[in-house]
Amino acid sequence: MTDNKKLLAWVKEMAEMCQPDHVHWCDGSREEYGRLCEEMVKSGTFIKLDERKRPHSYLCQSDPKDVARVEDRTFICSQKREDAGPTNNWMDPNEMKAVLRNHFKGAMKGRTMYVIPFSMGPIGSPISHVGIELTDSPYVVVNMRIMTRMGKKVLDVLGDGDFVPCLHSVGKPLAEGEKDVPWPCNADNKYIVHFPEERTIWSYGSGYGGNALLGKKCFALRIASVMARDEGWLAEHMLILGITSPAGEKKYFAAAFPSACGKTNLAMMIPTLPGWKVECVGDDIAWMKFGDDGRLYAINPESGFFGVAPGTSMDSNPNAMLSLTKNSIFTNVALTPDGDVWWEGMTEEIPTVLTSWLNERWTPESGKKAAHPNARFTAPAAQCPVIDPAWEDPRGVPVSAIVFGGRREEIVPLIHQAFNWQHGTFLGSAVSSEQTAAAAGVVGELRRDPFAMLPFCGYNMADYFSYWLSVGKNNDEEKLPKIFYVNWFRKDKNGRWLWPGYGENCRVLKWIFERCNGADNAETSPVGFLPQKGAIDTSGLDISAATMEKLFEIDVAGWLDNVENLRDYYKEFGERMPEKLVDELDRLEERLKNWR
Ligand code: GTP
Ligand code: SPV
Ligand code: MN
Repeated sequence: MTDNKKLLAWVKEMAEMCQPDHVHWCDGSREEYGRLCEEMVKSGTFIKLDERKRPHSYLCQSDPKDVARVEDRTFICSQKREDAGPTNNWMDPNEMKAVLRNHFKGAMKGRTMYVIPFSMGPIGSPISHVGIELTDSPYVVVNMRIMTRMGKKVLDVLGDGDFVPCLHSVGKPLAEGEKDVPWPCNADNKYIVHFPEERTIWSYGSGYGGNALLGKKCFALRIASVMARDEGWLAEHMLILGITSPAGEKKYFAAAFPSACGKTNLAMMIPTLPGWKVECVGDDIAWMKFGDDGRLYAINPESGFFGVAPGTSMDSNPNAMLSLTKNSIFTNVALTPDGDVWWEGMTEEIPTVLTSWLNERWTPESGKKAAHPNARFTAPAAQCPVIDPAWEDPRGVPVSAIVFGGRREEIVPLIHQAFNWQHGTFLGSAVSSEQTAAAAGVVGELRRDPFAMLPFCGYNMADYFSYWLSVGKNNDEEKLPKIFYVNWFRKDKNGRWLWPGYGENCRVLKWIFERCNGADNAETSPVGFLPQKGAIDTSGLDISAATMEKLFEIDVAGWLDNVENLRDYYKEFGERMPEKLVDELDRLEERLKNWR
């Protein structure tokens, strides 16, 4: 299938180390996909859903020990520890390779090694890059076929060009005659390892999405962030949406929110304001490059959605629901007696009996969740009813606004705007959010998650801040996207959301749209520009003036606490911390102290 010498030599070397029974080069065809799914039905990994209810779709119940990303087992193995920085786990690359070689030796015994050529980004786009994943997981192969452009056509464009080698094993070799389990993994020995200088990924022990679909977080963010810094572009944990005003004017926005904080929902929302339209380019990752006209252009490197299932419904996100009506894979959701899927929040009416994600009989009285909170669907992006006409444009789409956000019950207003790029970089560096179930850890715990990239930055986060500052310095500020910060998650004293969210977020998008057009509808506050009173269109929305006020209330004491906390956080980066951001912090403190 290929004459690529580097590729052939690498596959041979890895096969010698991993000792699979077979090596299969994936052609990416529908037949191959169907065959692998059928094999997984036979082996008990997949349950085929009722063909009439959800055509060509499957349910997979994983191992409870392997349901989320494992940030404490994720490593950036640069030559120097300082280049990984204080927010990443680090080990010397040679030492790590030695440890991993021990694990990978014979790791694929009794299994097939699949060779998956994949393109992140439309095949042949100047922004796209090729990776090759070797895996012993057929689950990974079929998910990669939805999430990336995959198969023979990628080898054709690769020719003898370069690629990112991605090695993956579930870490569960089979002895002669040993029967496999439905979800093989090696829960006590997970390693999600990146060698940024070599641009190589080795992942061991987990079959879960972000740990195993190596094109996604491992390549498109951790390795790509390094490539982007070296080559003058941006690889970000951002959705990309197109928004059209009632007058027919269209703009594109990119938005970075931490995991499970609303990217998929915003990316394909249905605006409640009449005449407005939102279309989806991507829901998780943006690769952005400057065009000849000096503007920033974004592509979605993926071709599918690996979305959070719980909470997704025809009410909250109809376009996601309509994207997953067929040709989809469901991981760790519940099974209905008639062969369909269910998860918390999917329907108002709660089923009387289900098979839970743990493959146990479930009733509402069980007192447990039927689906895992981080249960996911894998659905082809092309099936989204509002997929943007330009979503596969190899040139990308021009970005007018960049929006940061997080999950904060208190303090952070519904929206504010940065004064300029440098201040916007400061806002990105200051993102903090309450932890979700997307990664192993304590849900609800507040943590710093700069640019929503804490788990995904492949190098020293302080250098990443500097790089963002340099992007502002080296480009025409007029043409750069305007930067904003949103928070859909502010709560009242009784723990209820102050803001209705979802489709109503278009009201906030409308203000961003207007600001991009130079509207004079903001007022200056210590934290940034806030919408003038009445500038957020609440027509047709049942929300009190008091609630609106609360959504924009600046709690000076709370903010000053934030400043102190951020100052300590910045100190962790030592000398690498760019002074300009410390200046921004000092100025914020000044403005807060002198306010009103
Ligand atoms: P990853 O795929 O992990 O990167 O997540 P994501 O950022 O795409 O998050 P997603 O859109 O899947 O939303 C995660 C959770 O946030 C779901 O439970 C949603 O119901 C909830 N959510 C999304 N948007 C809103 C909103 O505007 N308001 C409120 N209150 N909840 C929201
Ligand atoms: C996230 O955790 O941000 C995700 C899901 O988008 S995963 O692919 O597992 O990283
Ligand atoms: Mn994500």
